[in-house]
Amino acid sequence: MNAGAARAHARAMGAPDGLAHCPLMPTYGAPTVQFVRGAGTELWDRDGRRYLDFLSGLAVVGLGHAHPEVADAIAEQARTLVHVSNLFGTEPGAQVALELDELLGGGGQVFFCNSGAEANEAAIKLARKWGGHGRFNVVSAYGSFHGRTLATLHATGQPQKHEAFQPLPEGFRHVAWDDLDALAAALDPTVAAVLLEPVQGEGGVNPATTAYFHGVRELCDERGVLFMVDEVQTGLGRTGRWFGHQHFGVVPDVVTMAKALGNGMPIGACWARRDVAAAFVPGDHATTFGGQPLATSAARATLAVMRREEVPARAERAGARLADSLVALPGLAGVRGLGLLLAAELEAGIDAREVAAAALGAGLVVNAVTPTAIRLAPPLLVGDDEIDEAVSLLGDVIEGASP
Ligand SMILES: Cc1ncc(COP(=O)(O)O)c(C=O)c1O
Repeated sequence: MNAGAARAHARAMGAPDGLAHCPLMPTYGAPTVQFVRGAGTELWDRDGRRYLDFLSGLAVVGLGHAHPEVADAIAEQARTLVHVSNLFGTEPGAQVALELDELLGGGGQVFFCNSGAEANEAAIKLARKWGGHGRFNVVSAYGSFHGRTLATLHATGQPQKHEAFQPLPEGFRHVAWDDLDALAAALDPTVAAVLLEPVQGEGGVNPATTAYFHGVRELCDERGVLFMVDEVQTGLGRTGRWFGHQHFGVVPDVVTMAKALGNGMPIGACWARRDVAAAFVPGDHATTFGGQPLATSAARATLAVMRREEVPARAERAGARLADSLVALPGLAGVRGLGLLLAAELEAGIDAREVAAAALGAGLVVNAVTPTAIRLAPPLLVGDDEIDEAVSLLGDVIEGASP
């Protein structure tokens, strides 16, 4: 990075003026906007400019920014008890775990952590402990994304992301997405679990099919393998169901989640059928912050609002409106996804990164989930007028970017 770019990066990240280098590691490109405030679907930058947020911090703020009930819960908990560690009992972790278990159909137990990668890491360790020696492999799909820790990076079916970090932990295999024959061939007696997303989010918003998830469930049952579903991006109403796999009528053995659970407060969770969870005994797995009262109080408030507002049904309705309006836009080759996790595929010759950058310039936050597709994942309480405004802005931007 040249000196000018380094200074601009530092400034955009909010470093004090005059710094030659950004104090943050360059793991992300230099942002062009710094946000200072949000409310619902709206954001404001430091110059007071308003934006419509159709990305929700990468599918995190499902209830929108600064939701008053979640904000109150966090503030109240911050004044009461933030953290004492899992050596002691606290509230409201058990209550949140019970609610998640209920939303998943019951019969399971929950491990709390702080992120999606950690939720998957817990699932992978659980699968290995459950499988026992010699049964340790986890099979995931090409195009998947499961996190950035070394194990979840290897589970991620994007070999180009692996290269710089070899050697990665052993015990991961990848198969073609939506290909039951490939999966059947990969399930030998060394396999403990299959790990799949209901909609491949980072891989380009590719929904699974009912036939695929049913077939995976059958194969896992036949071979005595766990079916683990990564709901980090799809969970908690985003796809129009509480969990994405519920579209397909299958019951997984393990479910991981994170993003929307705390409406922005970092919290992840790994749910497992009780007999599977029983493979863990005290000392097998832990995390200092996981399940602490500050995070679980945010999750409790988030779930309460989600239930009251019937968020999955709202997301399904709003997603249908958004998808229907998008398909009518010139310059789009198609729209895919479930609920409010959508990708707008652009016609050949239109660059998604340029469209996303121009949209930001026009006051609309989206991202290029692939070089040719724009991801739209607004807050689940998004209003019809906001959807119409966003589609109109995106339409103008695409028209300007068309060759
Ligand atoms: C499906 C899925 N799994 C795991 C992760 C990793 O989550 P985190 O970034 O919170 O570690 C992500 C993040 O985008 C994701 O979309």
